[in-house]
Amino acid sequence: MSRKVAILGGLGNGAVVAAAIEHARRMGATDLEVAGFLNDRTPVGEKIDMFPVIGKVEDAKRLLDEGYWFINTILRIDGNRERIAMFEALNIPDDRLATFVHPMAYVAPSVQLGAGCIIMPQVAMSPGSKLGKGCIMMVGATMGHDNIVGDFCHIAAQACVGSYLRIGKGVHIGFNATIRENLTIGDNATLGQGAVLLKNMGENEIWVGNPAKFLRYAE
Ligand SMILES: CC(C)(COP(=O)(O)OP(=O)(O)OC[C@H]1O[C@@H](n2cnc3c(N)ncnc32)[C@H](O)[C@@H]1OP(=O)(O)O)[C@@H](O)C(=O)NCCC(=O)NCCS
Repeated sequence: MSRKVAILGGLGNGAVVAAAIEHARRMGATDLEVAGFLNDRTPVGEKIDMFPVIGKVEDAKRLLDEGYWFINTILRIDGNRERIAMFEALNIPDDRLATFVHPMAYVAPSVQLGAGCIIMPQVAMSPGSKLGKGCIMMVGATMGHDNIVGDFCHIAAQACVGSYLRIGKGVHIGFNATIRENLTIGDNATLGQGAVLLKNMGENEIWVGNPAKFLRYAE
């Protein structure tokens, strides 16, 4: 029997993740079935790509009682604290967060994924890395070995994350960014698209460029 999943989000990441789950379902590779989106900006009933909006974000509480599973895709790239707080306030238990690994991803057997992690097609994850809950590795992102990654991190498409990294909570790694091994990245930090990170990043810091330099603090 399939598990009905409600995706928090919609346009952008939500629809992209929903399509990957549907793709896997048609391959017979997941028991998840997208029911639709929880979204405060699009009217209930309206479709976003293939799936309808089935409620507001706060409707997660009701759907929890109705047996749904959940995936969170709502994020803000330059500072994600508020969005994470909004999600945490829903108090969805970890055992109802759907973890999804697309069948076209490579995830080494010793990788540990927290509840609600999304691993998209063409991702490659080497051994020994541990992701907190609700992390998303977008299409084609690569992660080296032995990393510790906090909750709700977003690794954008084609980013290349090195090894032995300590990455905090709510971090965004921009698409096509590259991160050298053995670095530390503080909570809520953002690395811009295409950046090449050679130094540690502090909490709330936004860095860009090659070599990456501090740009500003997240709002
Ligand atoms: C880092 C980022 C958040 C900064 O956004 P911002 O604060 O709006 O920055 P601005 O566009 O105002 O640019 C400020 C300066 O930084 C530079 N800059 C911004 N992003 C840059 C990047 N990724 N690489 C190099 N320089 C960059 C701009 O050229 C500008 O420089 P200038 O003042 O000399 O003209 C954004 O550029 C970015 O990289 N976002 C991530 C995109 C991404 O990964 N998307 C994934 C979608 S799922």
